Amino acid sequence: MDEHAPRVLVFDSGVGGLSVAACIHQALPGAELVYLADNAGFPYGNKPEHVVIDRCCSLIEECLRQISCDVIVIACNTASTVVLPHLRATMKIPVVGVVPAVKPAAACSLNRKVGLLATPATIKRPYLDKLIHDFAGDCEVTRVGNPNLVRWAEELVAGTAPPLAELSEAMAPLRHSGVDTVVLGCTHYPLLLPWLRRILPEVTFWVESGEAIARRVAYWLEQAGRLSQAERFLGIPEAVVVQACFTGMAPAEIALFMAEVGTPVASVKSSWPKL
Ligand code: DGL
Repeated sequence: MDEHAPRVLVFDSGVGGLSVAACIHQALPGAELVYLADNAGFPYGNKPEHVVIDRCCSLIEECLRQISCDVIVIACNTASTVVLPHLRATMKIPVVGVVPAVKPAAACSLNRKVGLLATPATIKRPYLDKLIHDFAGDCEVTRVGNPNLVRWAEELVAGTAPPLAELSEAMAPLRHSGVDTVVLGCTHYPLLLPWLRRILPEVTFWVESGEAIARRVAYWLEQAGRLSQAERFLGIPEAVVVQACFTGMAPAEIALFMAEVGTPVASVKSSWPKL
């Protein structure tokens, strides 16, 4: 008999992965979540690949040494584009990555004009070219790899709303190309959705990856015979995330923010794990 509920480690460079954690909790309310944010390494979007790979692998390994989990979720597109093969080669538990939702976006678009928002690193990776080629070959795809959006999303934790004029300027290429569908290819961006919707009211479909990730986590828990336990909520609502760990200082208002985005936290650790 396993002594703890099915437990999922959700990893990101900052608070963006909370948008994914919220979807996992919606689908699997009986699963305990552990959140690991490498905010000392934030942002990943301007880091060389080898730095991202080394940091992710070492931090996750160290975290799992102390807190056992059943599934790892790399809730970061920028990291997922480079780190998944390395983690899958070394970890004994399943690793779920997040991919920009190009395929579902192409399925939604009525005018065949799709916008793709991601970090500067993700937007340039060959992996994204392949996704577009394979799944959105008949669409006109406008890519925006703006470095500021992740920062604005992080600032939401302190209650600072994104600067609307600058956000609107960053979205100008999508407005000009007349897209009806936008892929949120970075897990921080769903947190900015209320402002993005206001700035681009002509966009009908905003497509993110959180629900697909939650289905993949459910698949792996089913394989482990733990799905029914994960689907049944037996815990306390204040503790969806049993432990949130930040490699730098945890943001001052983090507990409040996590409750607001649907992932209330029981315990927060700063400067952990150490590299
Ligand atoms: N949430 C990460 C992503 O999905 C942010 C990347 C960053 O740290 O630049 O790409």
